[in-house]
Amino acid sequence: MAKDQDKKKGNIGSIQSDFITLTSHQLRTPLSGMKWLLELMQKSSVGNLNKKQKKLLSKIYQSNERMIALVNDLLEVSRIESGEAKLYLQPTDLASVVRGLIREKADEIKKKRLDVEFAVEREPLPLVKTELNKIRQAIGNLISNAIAYTPEGGELKIDLKQQDHEILGKISDTGAGIPKDQQKSVFNKFYRGSNILKFETNGTGLGLYITKAFIEASGGRIWFKSQENKGTTFYFTLPIA
Ligand SMILES: Nc1ncnc2c1ncn2[C@@H]1O[C@H](COP(=O)(O)OP(=O)(O)O)[C@@H](O)[C@H]1O
Ligand SMILES: [Mg+2]
Repeated sequence: MAKDQDKKKGNIGSIQSDFITLTSHQLRTPLSGMKWLLELMQKSSVGNLNKKQKKLLSKIYQSNERMIALVNDLLEVSRIESGEAKLYLQPTDLASVVRGLIREKADEIKKKRLDVEFAVEREPLPLVKTELNKIRQAIGNLISNAIAYTPEGGELKIDLKQQDHEILGKISDTGAGIPKDQQKSVFNKFYRGSNILKFETNGTGLGLYITKAFIEASGGRIWFKSQENKGTTFYFTLPIA
């Protein structure tokens, strides 16, 4: 009986994840079509828009971008769950990954007047074993979170150092923190903190689930310490190549 039930559950699970994969793929085409058309409309070559129209159009553009991000995250999750997300591990320079990400996010950092410090214990650090694009996505999400969930004028500190056969990364912020009673759910799919929902409506709650999967698939670990209204520090390790 129990076995039958398990089997049933398993079937439903895989039908659901096939369904999500197919639906997400189907959504991609119209969403990128919309993105392209919106970009075209924002160009003056199709006629001038007044200020109000421009503002509305940019809101539609942002909503579309959020939808694209959600669909991409859903696809990533279904790849992870189907076991397709095998990483292609190669020696990777973490310090340059972090530098690239900070440069990429410079506009958001400036807009929020955040003070960002990046320290590498000693350079060059040994290379780590991971897949470049996946680890960019993983660390990028940790940095994006630190930016998104820290109020204006806050501080971000990122550092990398060697510890035995691993590199230890640390990303800390002086932001909203994660409420104690919710800390066990942080890496769950779709978790979003009750304390941040009122000021940061963007987000899917899938970022940390994906981040953890990529770090663990590289043979690393991830954990955090957080205090509400004080700040959060995420730690991760990756094995040296
Ligand atoms: N640096 C941080 N400071 C405060 N809360 C955080 C931080 N990082 C993650 N969180 C909490 O964990 C939740 C899940 O993060 P994530 O999986 O990246 O999803 P998203 O950012 O899309 O909401 C966030 O919504 C937030 O409540
Ligand atoms: Mg996030």
